[in-house]
Amino acid sequence: MAPSNIAQPSTQALHADDPLNLVTDVAPPIHLSTTFRYPNAPDELLPSEDPVAEFNGKNYVYSREFAPNATRFEAVLSSLLKGHAVSYATGLAALHAALTLLNPRRISVGEGYHGSHEVIAVISRLSGLQKLNISCPAESLEAGDVILLETPVNPYGTAFSIEEYALKAHARGAYLIVDSTFAPPGLQDPFLWGADIVMHSGSKYLGGHSDLLCGVLAVKREDWHKQLLEDRLALGNVMGNIESWLGTRSLRTLEVRVQRSSQSSAKLISWLHSALNTSSRAPDTEEGIVQSVLKKIYHASLQDEPWLHRQMPNGFGPVFSIVLQNEDFARALPSKLSFFQHATSLGGVESLIEWRALSDSRVDRKLLRISVGLENWEDLKEDLFQAFTAILEGQ
Ligand SMILES: Cc1ncc(COP(=O)(O)O)c(C=O)c1O
Repeated sequence: MAPSNIAQPSTQALHADDPLNLVTDVAPPIHLSTTFRYPNAPDELLPSEDPVAEFNGKNYVYSREFAPNATRFEAVLSSLLKGHAVSYATGLAALHAALTLLNPRRISVGEGYHGSHEVIAVISRLSGLQKLNISCPAESLEAGDVILLETPVNPYGTAFSIEEYALKAHARGAYLIVDSTFAPPGLQDPFLWGADIVMHSGSKYLGGHSDLLCGVLAVKREDWHKQLLEDRLALGNVMGNIESWLGTRSLRTLEVRVQRSSQSSAKLISWLHSALNTSSRAPDTEEGIVQSVLKKIYHASLQDEPWLHRQMPNGFGPVFSIVLQNEDFARALPSKLSFFQHATSLGGVESLIEWRALSDSRVDRKLLRISVGLENWEDLKEDLFQAFTAILEGQ
């Protein structure tokens, strides 16, 4: 639906939905109606045979089928993700839709987001889907199976080679789903490296303001696109009207938000990494204080892999994790911070920190996940440093 003369993502984010304008408002209007009037002329009343194929971007009938705000949101996303985008109520609803489409017998998956494993558990209960480790030998996979690769991975922010897993899947006739939530458009294009389906929890960067839940799948194949729309109509896991309007509003600024957060995150990580690795250990120096509190940092920017610079040429994402010297420090640090708020989730304009043990029992209890938002990075650095100092004083 994007005008063909538009090339750059920042322009697409503002204009890919222009052909869908129904009124002259510059800011997209909020359409709340669940139902839409049929044409008045009796001759134009045609019983529907294939609602998905008959949809032309304007002939709305009922909002579980298609709705104006969501259609706009998907038009912009389709151009940013470089595939047909379909929106869902949440990221996990999107994963459920992808697995319903492919209906694999086996799924190879890494640790990653714990909720994705809950979706797999539900499907296993229904279909007998078998879960394999992400590092299983290629020979364990058969045609139609799935590799679900989360990169960068939650909660660490470290990356895996999409190309490597695409080759592994395709050698066996299996499919690769990439959960690219931690690297939205502008940071990573999984299709370039062989992904068959790209998935996002849009509740993170696509929404970007911690005020909406959504999920997105993007596919290149026309038949998959149609099937996803038909399945969504049948299963009813659509985004709400307000959420998809908020989502469209948010996509307008996606590029600048993500670039700025990713740059600030890189500066914070570089400061922490060099303090951690300097030889000075005098306890009252900046380095000494960082070293007394911090044990390890996880982030793709600290990985030295040649493929990574090709896969993520514009930065490595705003989320990283730190492991502290002990569990008491990890439990206490969030309470000493002013600008980082202690909450789960990520990808919003506000910086967040989470003692990850609170929501994921599988991770190291000394680990804190940090999502860098749009505050000034030096203020965030100052906030972290004074919190490290406060923790040491409180011992
Ligand atoms: C990597 C990843 N995938 C999927 C999800 C699920 O998204 P949602 O909460 O929108 O269902 C999350 C949520 O944190 C996530 O971090």
